[in-house]
Amino acid sequence: MVQDEQWATDLAAIEEQALQALAKISDESDLQAWRTLHLGRSSAVMQTFTRLGQAPKEQRPALGQAANRVKQALESALALREQALGQAELERSLSSERLDVTLPGRQPHLGRLHIATQTLREIYRVFAEMGFQVYRSREVETDAFNFELLNIPAYHPARDMWDTFHTTTPGVVLRTHTSPGQIHAMREFAPEPVRVILPGMCYRYEQSSVRHEIQFNQVEVLAVGRGITFGDLKGTLQEFARRLFGQNVRTRLRPSYFPFTEPSAEMDVECFVCGGAGCQICKGSGWLEILGCGMVHPLVLQNGGYDPAVYSGFAAGMGPERMTILRYRIEDIRNFWGNDVRFLEQF
Ligand code: DAH
Repeated sequence: MVQDEQWATDLAAIEEQALQALAKISDESDLQAWRTLHLGRSSAVMQTFTRLGQAPKEQRPALGQAANRVKQALESALALREQALGQAELERSLSSERLDVTLPGRQPHLGRLHIATQTLREIYRVFAEMGFQVYRSREVETDAFNFELLNIPAYHPARDMWDTFHTTTPGVVLRTHTSPGQIHAMREFAPEPVRVILPGMCYRYEQSSVRHEIQFNQVEVLAVGRGITFGDLKGTLQEFARRLFGQNVRTRLRPSYFPFTEPSAEMDVECFVCGGAGCQICKGSGWLEILGCGMVHPLVLQNGGYDPAVYSGFAAGMGPERMTILRYRIEDIRNFWGNDVRFLEQF
């Protein structure tokens, strides 16, 4: 009986100690350590089973049952603790990763086409409708293509019209206009008819200012075939202006001079700002110059591989940035390549 009591107090102490330790655990890995210590092979409860053999035979069943109860009590306390810790962990992660689906979303920053690209694409569209293909030509040119084949010989005073960037390779320049593309296109198409526009960047060695920039786009227009007349030039360019600026826009041609066309002209459109009455933008004239044009010079046709006795053609060259400036009343041409988003975002 005495020994019986001793066993009972031992078991009660084992249980109490284990439960106290369990209550302090707040971490899953500590739970594993606790399991080993209090329910493992060499834990106090399990040792009790080993020691059962030393007890008097008639007491063994009762002692065994008592030890079993303690073991089961510890196991179920462990299970409860495990569950509680798991639940706490779940709640913690749910609340820390909470997503408020009612918050307003962040606006993605929308990109847009550069204003020069927008104008270029409008020009492509209008000419495409009239049957013109886009033909790309190089930005680095030889003196021959940029000047000589366009009827601008060395030392000719007309060269002063184009301030040129020369490269370190003699005779190689950055194109000063898209006109050299005329020769490339003609040589590729001859003797078939040509109907192309040639867009691209041009470079001029100038002091940059509000009105001048060392780089700018041009779009060259070229049509070569049999029986093309000045009337075709006028009709095509007028129609272009109407499709780009509006059906009611008025245009006019003024005589001019370019070495690669004969006769040559410049086309004006009625000022979009004042409607022809005269304002600051059109300098009181009511007209805005938008392009140079003319009938392709016989020497240029010949350099392109066409017999000028059989073929004729017209050409034109325009500056999309210049046209954009007029249209949106942009004050400084340097804004185009200044990469200031405050400017670019306006279009
Ligand atoms: N290439 C000329 C320039 O840069 C513009 C030009 C004028 C092009 C008349 C033409 C043309 O094709 O016919 O100033």
